[in-house]
Amino acid sequence: MANVTVIGAQWGDEGKGKIVDWLSVRADIVARFQGGHNAGHTLVVGGKTYKLSLLPSGVVRGKPSLIGNGVVLDPWAFTAEVEKLRAQGVAITPETVKIAETAALILPVHRELDGFREMRDDGMAIGTTRRGIGPAYEDKVGRRAIRVIDLADPAALPRRVADLLHHHNALRRGHGQPEADADELVRALTEIAPQILPFAAPVWRVLDEAIREGKKVLFEGAQGALLDVDHGTYPFVTSSNTVAGQAAAGCGVAPRAAGFVLGIVKAYTTRVGEGPFPTELTDAAGQRLGERGHEFGTVTGRQRRCGWFDAVLVRQTVTAGGVDGVALTKLDVLDGFEEIRVCTAYELNGERLDRLPAGRAEQAAVKPVYETLRGWSGSTRGARSWAELPAEAVKYVRRIEELIGCPAAMLSTSPEREDAILIRDPFLG
Ligand code: GDP
Ligand code: IMO
Ligand code: MG
Repeated sequence: MANVTVIGAQWGDEGKGKIVDWLSVRADIVARFQGGHNAGHTLVVGGKTYKLSLLPSGVVRGKPSLIGNGVVLDPWAFTAEVEKLRAQGVAITPETVKIAETAALILPVHRELDGFREMRDDGMAIGTTRRGIGPAYEDKVGRRAIRVIDLADPAALPRRVADLLHHHNALRRGHGQPEADADELVRALTEIAPQILPFAAPVWRVLDEAIREGKKVLFEGAQGALLDVDHGTYPFVTSSNTVAGQAAAGCGVAPRAAGFVLGIVKAYTTRVGEGPFPTELTDAAGQRLGERGHEFGTVTGRQRRCGWFDAVLVRQTVTAGGVDGVALTKLDVLDGFEEIRVCTAYELNGERLDRLPAGRAEQAAVKPVYETLRGWSGSTRGARSWAELPAEAVKYVRRIEELIGCPAAMLSTSPEREDAILIRDPFLG
């Protein structure tokens, strides 16, 4: 099996975009399988920065790029991103980019509902990206979503919109907000349809044909396993499954087509938004990680919370996420720390735990048990071989592999495309 599936193994922003871009040179097709424009993937190529949210990270190399049925697609965000990338010289055509006909749309009512809920001041806000992701997935599961293919049937659009707004207007009234206007939404959809429909395709069949021809597919996950709606820190999660199992359902391929699962793991931990974070640092070390790692969200510009590496969490996501090997990123951010701590277990009410408990109160109350490792004074920044790494950095990687029970297949040492160390080619299994 020559395919590779990339997933985030923490709370997102692990550096998936960089790794997918790097790996895409070996792939024939890149396919996104979940999430939407809540994702923010930054690629740096020869000093030039590309920011992608919806488009698969293979587009910058000109690789055929697919947006699977598991993605929720905001048609306006899609066209804006296409325009932005074209202005940067990236070629995007219906030949190179295809959107699943069955993908559910994110509409203005979804973005607004996300916002209404997030404005609450009862301490129950999730800290979402306010892109309408959750409400759009709710409508998909509620069987009232408007899908890409519905744009091809303008005669039926008023009925679809009426059905959807019947639900949304009840919610909007409950939030004390004005009802949404059906005619306006139909008009907006009719107007955007010609910009979306040329990209619409049966993605499942495109992939089937490619796989039969022996082509290599790179499945690109967004977010991270700790944001998975089932396996993450619920309810502080996103509204999709982010684990490798979703690659199959979110594109319409066999589970075995996922191939080698590469979990992207940051050498420390970050999270954006609310929710438990056992190793969070609010001291100078946390500030240093944030500054050195430029930990500001690509999508919302929010400062990311930072903390030490949590091996308990990654050991858990490696298992539940189906990870075969990890890519350890941002090792260079740890350069110059005298000591580096790694969480190896939790303590709760005098008991030692080797996993994150499922209960909300317990998740918020666990205390990390740390192991302290020696830092390194040399630089790992830009290293492209093991030989360039200080001995303590190698020890750090080896200890993490041991603690998470999974080998490192790659290391990343700067934002630049080529600054990586390949240990085991994921495409070779
Ligand atoms: P993604 O959402 O998982 O694709 O990650 P983001 O792009 O949101 O965040 C990762 C950030 O770290 C981006 O700004 C990358 O350019 C940057 N980055 C990726 N790998 C490395 C690395 O090895 N070292 C450093 N210093 N930065 C990196
Ligand atoms: P990438 O692909 C980091 C977080 C939000 C919030 C929660 C729910 O760049 O790694 P949502 O808008 O999805 O309903 O928000 O999930 N979140 C991310 N955090 N990286 C992401 O994507 C994220 N996408 C969503 O901050 O806590
Ligand atoms: Mg990101």
